[in-house]
Amino acid sequence: MISNTWLLILLAITSIASVVFFFNYHYYRSLVKQKGSFRKWPIRSISLEEVDPIFKTNEFGPTLETSVQFVGRGHLVVPGGTSDAEAWVLAVLAKKAKTIFEFGTCTGKTSYLMALNSSADTKVTTLTLPPDGVETYSTNTGDSSTATRNALKESAFVKFLYTGTPVEPKITQLFGDSKHFDESLYAGKIDLIFVDGSHALSYVLSDSEKAFRMVSPGGIILWHDYRGPSINKDVYKALNGISRSKPLAHIEGTSFIMYRNS
Ligand SMILES: C[S@@+](CC[C@H](N)C(=O)[O-])C[C@H]1O[C@@H](n2cnc3c(N)ncnc32)[C@H](O)[C@@H]1O
Repeated sequence: MISNTWLLILLAITSIASVVFFFNYHYYRSLVKQKGSFRKWPIRSISLEEVDPIFKTNEFGPTLETSVQFVGRGHLVVPGGTSDAEAWVLAVLAKKAKTIFEFGTCTGKTSYLMALNSSADTKVTTLTLPPDGVETYSTNTGDSSTATRNALKESAFVKFLYTGTPVEPKITQLFGDSKHFDESLYAGKIDLIFVDGSHALSYVLSDSEKAFRMVSPGGIILWHDYRGPSINKDVYKALNGISRSKPLAHIEGTSFIMYRNS
């Protein structure tokens, strides 16, 4: 016979386990469904086909128009890297762009892919903070300390994946802090902008303001790492704020947010 004490203990354990399960279930479900823990993410999602008709599928899936030259990463962890799906989307969009600008070079993988897959006369410009420039990095109140730490940790490269490759002449490498970057030379001229520099709030806002001035008519801005309120929360906060005045869309199956200057 189980005594009353044991019954009570059993009841308490079962109740605690149910509460823990409930919260974990909702948390993981929210990650999978790309929603806030108990609310929908504010930026609406669009399909790849809505981004560009080139992504329209047929009975085999993506068409050969979307074939690209590719360096994948599979299950490997690459500093600050895009997923293979995101890298493919960038490479496909690069095919149509004559001018490309990237905030945040890191290993140079995305600059390499965009240079590799764009036309021979396309110019790719990419800006990054070099290791000897980290003292110029300036945090603001409201910047997440994790984002700041990661930005400085990823500022470790002066040689890149594209260095020494046949596409290197297409790439202009800029070094410096993006808050000090003067974008006026590029105003209204860039067909594809990839915002993937520091993920701290004040930097996402500053890089975005510059990107809006730089984008050409019909051009596209893509931001990386919109992953909800718990992961890269400053990116989430900054873009949700911007979406109140600009038509932003989240691209399904990626962590990209897109703006088209139509
Ligand atoms: C997430 S990684 C970029 C990854 C790269 N786009 C890719 O997918 O291969 C972030 C990059 O932003 C750069 N960065 C961080 N803070 C910066 C700043 N204040 N100004 C310019 N670049 C910055 C880092 O040095 C790092 O190279």
